[in-house]
Amino acid sequence: MIYISRAVPGLGYQDLRDIMSKSEVNNSHVGLTGLLCFGNGLFLQILEGSRLAISQTYHRILQDPRHHSAEIIVFEPVLHREFVQWSMKLVQIDENSPEKMRRLYWKYSGEVDFAPQTMTPAQCLQFMLEIDPARSLAKV
Ligand SMILES: Cc1cc2nc3c(=O)[nH]c(=O)nc-3n(C[C@H](O)[C@H](O)[C@H](O)COP(=O)(O)O)c2cc1C
Repeated sequence: MIYISRAVPGLGYQDLRDIMSKSEVNNSHVGLTGLLCFGNGLFLQILEGSRLAISQTYHRILQDPRHHSAEIIVFEPVLHREFVQWSMKLVQIDENSPEKMRRLYWKYSGEVDFAPQTMTPAQCLQFMLEIDPARSLAKV
């Protein structure tokens, strides 16, 4: 499953740390893997695992007051996981090389800023594959 949501104003480093520590524990208990991108006030997250684990986790995430206006981009069966290394991995995309990130935004959304709301499911997936720290060490 891939979705986006909007962070509340003032969301800070401690919030992100809290989200990540809870995600790592909870997701590993239910066999979820994935990536959480944060930038430009937006979250883009991919959750991989059983339909039940994804549904239950997503419903809990929706209740979280640290974000709002979530939109499901895609929820579909896949042949295999892509983010097996991460129970959840945060990529703060604003912190990476601006030049390379701009190239990726342009490549996948035709925008100069991080704009996942304009991206198709396939574009979101490819974008996240390219920024996955487990595979993109030389790229980003
Ligand atoms: C954008 C976003 C993504 C989140 N992703 C996850 C996640 O993948 N797994 C998870 O358990 N909680 C995630 N959370 C946190 C949940 O909303 C919730 O705070 C947490 O699961 C509560 O855990 P607890 O019941 O162990 O305290 C996310 C929150 C936000 C705002």
